Amino acid sequence: MSRKAWFILTGFKRLFDSRPVHAQLVLTYECNLSCGYCHEFTHGAPVTPYEVIVRRIDALASLGAIAYDLLGGEPLLHPRIVDIVRRVKATNRGVNFVTLITNAFKLTPELIDGLNDAGLDCMQVSVDTIDPTVALPKSLRSVLPKLALLAERAQFQVKIQTVLTDESWRHYPQFRELLAPFDFEFSFSLLHDEHGRVAIQGTRFAEILEQHELFPGLKFFRRHAKEMMLGNPTRPWKCLGGFKYLYVKPDGTTQYCSQVPGLRIPVEQLTLADLRRANVHKPCEPGCALGCVRTVSHAMGSPLSTLSTSIEILRDYMRRRSTAAPSASGSVDERQPHPSRRSQAKGPPQGERKFSLDNNNATARPEEPPSFGGVSKGARSSESRSPDPAGRRAVS
Ligand SMILES: C[S@@+](CC[C@H](N)C(=O)[O-])C[C@H]1O[C@@H](n2cnc3c(N)ncnc32)[C@H](O)[C@@H]1O
Ligand code: SF4
Ligand code: SF4
Repeated sequence: MSRKAWFILTGFKRLFDSRPVHAQLVLTYECNLSCGYCHEFTHGAPVTPYEVIVRRIDALASLGAIAYDLLGGEPLLHPRIVDIVRRVKATNRGVNFVTLITNAFKLTPELIDGLNDAGLDCMQVSVDTIDPTVALPKSLRSVLPKLALLAERAQFQVKIQTVLTDESWRHYPQFRELLAPFDFEFSFSLLHDEHGRVAIQGTRFAEILEQHELFPGLKFFRRHAKEMMLGNPTRPWKCLGGFKYLYVKPDGTTQYCSQVPGLRIPVEQLTLADLRRANVHKPCEPGCALGCVRTVSHAMGSPLSTLSTSIEILRDYMRRRSTAAPSASGSVDERQPHPSRRSQAKGPPQGERKFSLDNNNATARPEEPPSFGGVSKGARSSESRSPDPAGRRAVS
């Protein structure tokens, strides 16, 4: 049976069994940036050794996970990131779907080539705004050269993920216009507080969700999201964090999600009985803005109401797999962009196209976070994080 068929079949089985489908594996809490809204980094944190990560991948695979997110902190700070991607892809008969969630500042042509070769399926690049601010350093101006590199070389899917905040929503329409030539996929995260609760409110945010198409997995979450942003978090749902979805911290313990501890059991000791015990309603469900957990929970817990979305996800997956262009040797041609961006192969390479980022060129050096008043944000310690940065807003 083909890998594609195995992936679909296994995903279908997960609807009925008590095994996890999706795992987020944190490789380090170290980060090269200090986003004002983020609670998931610690400057000076260690990088988890490759051998330890391999044991965790094996444990997750034997539990049954088939979709993996590699993240941090910043996962590109892991010196063996390519080997880690290769290892996840080599596990479970090559069925696993692997996404790397990154700020992209550390991307190089060699790294993209390595990730192509390792079989990465998707890179989710987090970009929040056009020009960097202290609270939102992940800006188009900072990473445009990296996006151009991805457009030219990446054989994996590229998604641009934006956290909707008081600052970012203002520039979002222009942001999308500027990125239009890239033909990447786009999606939002709703700003959440340190407990996972939605931290933005108002019709202006709901309007952004109305105006811009989201990735398929968020379609059914959109109705809940809109209600939450308009102040009504009461629509019932069941969080499957700790059951169908697992979050593994750098110390190896598992949580319900990035914000709520829950299980607290080392992943290598986790049993299916532990997972079944986590299949309960959580007190933090009302107002929860963790899109990833909600997507998995809705798809696995309410398969009928999310059927059209699931079919759309499957169609997209199959289209991507079946349009991949194998070379004469049977592997994908290294010079071809990902099939979803094949149209870009026509015309000048992305890197040579003109982008109208006002009068400035697009050659900002992403390795050097822009400095403000002589202070490099990348050098700020986690202790110096603003307790109430401009990018974060409490729900009143
Ligand atoms: C914790 S980061 C780790 C990976 C990488 N450093 C990055 O920024 O993409 C994973 C994702 O969580 C998002 N994120 C972090 N804090 C958030 C918050 N308070 N609300 C919503 N999304 C948040 C980031 O923007 C990013 O897309
Ligand atoms: S880049 Fe920003 S969002 Fe990602 S881990 Fe670092 S501080 Fe958090
Ligand atoms: S409802 Fe689930 S995903 Fe949301 S904050 Fe609670 S444990 Fe985390």
